Amino acid sequence: VSAERGGYPHFMLKEIHEQPKAVRDTLRGRVAEDLSGVTLDEIGFDEAFTKSVDRIHIIACGTSWHAGLVGKAVIEQYARIPVDVEIASEYRYRNPIYTPNTLAIVISQSGETADTLAAMREMQSKGVRVLAITNVVGSSAAREADDVIVTWAGPEIAVASTKAYTTQITALYLLAIHFAHVRGNLNDAGVHELLEALAALPQLAEQVLDTAPQLKSFARRYVEATDTFFIGRGIDYAVALEGALKLKEISYIHAEAYAAGELKHGTLALITDGVPVIGIATQPDLYEKTVSNIVEVKARGAFVLGMTWVGNDDLEKTVDEVIYLPKTLPALAPIAAVIPLQLLAYYAAVARGNDVDKPRNLAKSVTVE
Ligand code: G6P
Repeated sequence: VSAERGGYPHFMLKEIHEQPKAVRDTLRGRVAEDLSGVTLDEIGFDEAFTKSVDRIHIIACGTSWHAGLVGKAVIEQYARIPVDVEIASEYRYRNPIYTPNTLAIVISQSGETADTLAAMREMQSKGVRVLAITNVVGSSAAREADDVIVTWAGPEIAVASTKAYTTQITALYLLAIHFAHVRGNLNDAGVHELLEALAALPQLAEQVLDTAPQLKSFARRYVEATDTFFIGRGIDYAVALEGALKLKEISYIHAEAYAAGELKHGTLALITDGVPVIGIATQPDLYEKTVSNIVEVKARGAFVLGMTWVGNDDLEKTVDEVIYLPKTLPALAPIAAVIPLQLLAYYAAVARGNDVDKPRNLAKSVTVE
């Protein structure tokens, strides 16, 4: 069994460590060698269609939904197409509003999640074109969607999703850049800059894995914790949601993600002495605002682990411990930022003696509605 796990004690830890390769494999063949553009030959979008899309609905469940939130941020930032991101089990029952040029994107690691498939079929029956982003080539989503982008994460065994998430985000980056380029929102220099940063992501992920010992020791603080909080703004908030979900899924510790600016509208009342808070601050333009929220939780006694880009020593003045992430473009920060959160959840679950790969009550793929 240990051979299957490549010498790792759990599939989850193995899959966390496979992320540099998974991201590299998902980029392979899709970025022009000279960084002049994205090649997504597998999708049949011609220029006219790519230019005509006036609205995107991203539909998914769980971690895939969290990847969709990052997708919204980057598609809106670079391609300026309005994006709604919806939970499949909500979307399918609410008669969504779409235009003749709406594109639906379903994201599903397994390609078999019942609610996601139902939402996809519903949109197809209305004549909406559906693109599936999935990790399983022969899955129902891959077979039935109008277009498919495969994430090349390889089989994901642990119930808690890790490498599927980072490759889904990678696929969404490619799509955002493709749309932005074809629609003229990004010029060649802009495309070049983004693709250069994108190509560096596998190496970045590799570097972040070195934070494992720091997270392992930090996780000891979580063993006795009952309530924990993850805060961030913008794209960091999307990552906070995923970090909180990881912790809940496998450590069974209550975790809540909050848009940092929203804290004072309720959750701040829950911050008392010693409550663990993760403050994610990877976005330079939001940095000061997030730090002011971290100061607020510190003043109530929270124990704060901060995450920011390397070189930004300023955060040490405010928090108890800092995780430094390698520098990249702000929009690309989530891939590096989520890895320490995956490691934190993993080590907290191990320290609590939980069945990391098969958490109670959860399934890898939810094929019932
Ligand atoms: C289950 C899994 C999650 C996953 C979600 C959506 O809840 O435990 O890890 O994110 O289903 O799965 P999908 O295969 O559609 O991405």
